Amino acid sequence: METLILDAHRERDIQRAGAILNAGGLVAIPTETVYGLAANALREEAVRGIFAAKGRPGDNPLIVHISAVSQMYELAQHVPEEAVRLAEAFWPGPLTIILPKRACVPDITSGGLKTVALRLPDHKVARAVIEAAGVPLAAPSANLSGRPSPTAFSHVQQDLTGRVDALIDGGDCPVGVESTVVSLCGGKPALLRPGGVTLQALRDVLGDIAVDPAVLEKLTDGRTAASPGMKYTHYAPKAKIIMVDASPVEYAAYVNEKADGHALCFEEDVPRLQVPQVCYGTRYDGAGQARRLFSALHELDAAGAGTAYAHIPSKNGMGLAVYNRLVRAAGFRMKNPGGHHVVGLTGPSGAGKTAVAKIMEKLGCGVVDCDEITRAPGIYDAACLKELQAAFGEDVVQEGALNRGLLAARAFRTEEGKELLNRITHPRILGGVMAAYEAHVAAGCRVIVFDAPTLFEAGLDSYCSRILAVVADAQTRLSRIMRRDGLDEASARLRMQAQQELSFFVNRADHVVENSRDGGDLNKRLGSIVGGLREKAEG
Ligand code: TXA
Ligand code: MG
Repeated sequence: METLILDAHRERDIQRAGAILNAGGLVAIPTETVYGLAANALREEAVRGIFAAKGRPGDNPLIVHISAVSQMYELAQHVPEEAVRLAEAFWPGPLTIILPKRACVPDITSGGLKTVALRLPDHKVARAVIEAAGVPLAAPSANLSGRPSPTAFSHVQQDLTGRVDALIDGGDCPVGVESTVVSLCGGKPALLRPGGVTLQALRDVLGDIAVDPAVLEKLTDGRTAASPGMKYTHYAPKAKIIMVDASPVEYAAYVNEKADGHALCFEEDVPRLQVPQVCYGTRYDGAGQARRLFSALHELDAAGAGTAYAHIPSKNGMGLAVYNRLVRAAGFRMKNPGGHHVVGLTGPSGAGKTAVAKIMEKLGCGVVDCDEITRAPGIYDAACLKELQAAFGEDVVQEGALNRGLLAARAFRTEEGKELLNRITHPRILGGVMAAYEAHVAAGCRVIVFDAPTLFEAGLDSYCSRILAVVADAQTRLSRIMRRDGLDEASARLRMQAQQELSFFVNRADHVVENSRDGGDLNKRLGSIVGGLREKAEG
């Protein structure tokens, strides 16, 4: 079959695509998530063509793309109030809503189900093509079944040239992972597939939402998938992918020992790696990882990678969608090379990190108290004291002992001073921290906690496989700081203002725990986090 290449910026080409689709043909179109392979959703023979071109199993239903909210009422039997709220909040956008279908939607489109998946895309070209076609368009991702989804035009060309009538070149897809799929057909709304709209954003609109077990875990035999697409091997490049659940330092050590491997890693990992690499964003930016992920999988193929070791993403925010795709690309293969997890505690001053560390210690975790290590007399050797004197004045050392007050007063006067102090002291503190960490490992600890006020500034997060943010409301924090440090209210407020925004901590965290006076059952919450980590470390 000859495949026409159309230009997204030419009105004539959009009309041409619409005519092909209206006549029952197949056209690959750009959307904000990934490219889709479109056909007239209401015509059985047209939809049959999609399954044939992709090699897609017939029981895997398709998403029907619309260009106006009113079409939801034409395709769904019944539109519950939650659907209206979701559409208002997220359409046009990367959200798919599953509703009971009307008879006009053929069984082939819905994979034999009584329901229909609807999405109003936030991409001008996609909507223009739907309008030009004059019918809703069924469109799965425009890849061969099982392969990574296409986020660049070249990916679509590779998979579908010669198999479909036309491809529209619309450049790169800005979101990079598919839409979030939410079912409103059972009792409680359910997340079937994480995607471009985060779970937190859905909770903000819906309140409670169930997360289908297939989102994170392999379906055990005999269980049926609420979303049939979740049961198939997916997103797989030619390379064998192995997920590595470890801190950046442990990840690099593990991968560097593999003679055969490529690293599928974060940009921060690059300086530590001695094997060929493909990056998929930075460690704390889920949206950036989503944008890069499928391109990175395609790049692994282009590099001829045999095995790729993927540094595990966080499951926070957009990270959940990234994790969901990557774990499927890896066929659920997962390694925890150290046999343990290191949890870095973070959070603003007064949130109660140390109280959380104490509870975790009672739960059997090994705690490394970095403040205590910083204050330990033996930590600064003679060479270190000399460096401090050269930098901040002879008198910061008196009778062989550090005058901490004077040192702090001098160092904290300027940014440069602070940096210089860190440069001199951090390696020594790190030595102490690592010694304490090694002792916990030697004692067989599965979960080790770093209680470090400057976790990120000191680079200690590179030794952590998880970040746990402790947060509390402003009033609680204020009174804690006043009491703990003996400050008046004005000074305590100044201290709070000098801190990072709450989002700084929360966006970097795998877990967020609320530690306000009435913050619920902290023990239970931490117990379940520690239990989960211990299981993952042993498994
Ligand atoms: O972002 C996206 O959603 C992209 C672009 C092209 O819009 N499309 C896409 O389609 O990802 P596809 O076919 O690759 O994935 C559709 C997912 C599958 O997991 C499928 O099982 C599920 O949605 N799905 C579709 N209809 C369903 C239904 N009636 N009930 C449950 N799951 C359904
Ligand atoms: Mg797909």
